[in-house]
Amino acid sequence: MDEPPTDRAFWDSRYLSGRTPWDQGGVPAALARYLAAHPGRGARVLIPGCGAGREIAAFAAGGYAVTAIDFSPPAVAQARVRVGPALAGHVLEGDFFACSFDSTPFDLVYERTFLCALPSDRWPRIAERTAALLKPGGTLAGLYFFGDKDDGPPFGLAPDEAARLFDPDFDLVVDEPVPPAESLPLFAARERWQERRRR
Ligand SMILES: C[S@@+](CC[C@H](N)C(=O)[O-])C[C@H]1O[C@@H](n2cnc3c(N)ncnc32)[C@H](O)[C@@H]1O
Repeated sequence: MDEPPTDRAFWDSRYLSGRTPWDQGGVPAALARYLAAHPGRGARVLIPGCGAGREIAAFAAGGYAVTAIDFSPPAVAQARVRVGPALAGHVLEGDFFACSFDSTPFDLVYERTFLCALPSDRWPRIAERTAALLKPGGTLAGLYFFGDKDDGPPFGLAPDEAARLFDPDFDLVVDEPVPPAESLPLFAARERWQERRRR
């Protein structure tokens, strides 16, 4: 937790130059379906590595109390402008691994292109930190990129790798391919929507 976020400059430069090929430009269709089926009713959701914050308003509109975090100041600035004054305060600038958030565990953690943005040697820490931040019975849900690890980011999961990472603390409850037409070219036919329950 005391190690500095050494690659932040990479992300800063991408947001400042507008080279963000992972940015879907809207709410992923799989998330829209999830929100329609799972009204938040005040549940607390965390969005790690929220980037430009495309999904924040959708979670809020779906009844969730949203906390989003990114360590890149230009990403946070873009997200705060996007969501407007009512939600800007819910976008934290900080390191997912080091931020204390508050003492209340989250009901839901949403994943999109955060895990695959980090080298795979950091993935066990993502899984451990996510488990620590979720209440028992809470949900980890989102989109996972299955592919190779060459020339990342993005760094892809091998077929059995997600199970190795998450099985110690989570049960896989939903695992569906994302229709290629719903994905960006970068991820097409290599994305899955997965939901895991914290034990
Ligand atoms: C590929 S981008 C994805 C952004 C967003 N989830 C999306 O789908 O558009 C990865 C994001 O993770 C952020 N990030 C990487 N390491 C982080 C860390 N340790 N704490 C917080 N944010 C981090 C980067 O700044 C970047 O915005």
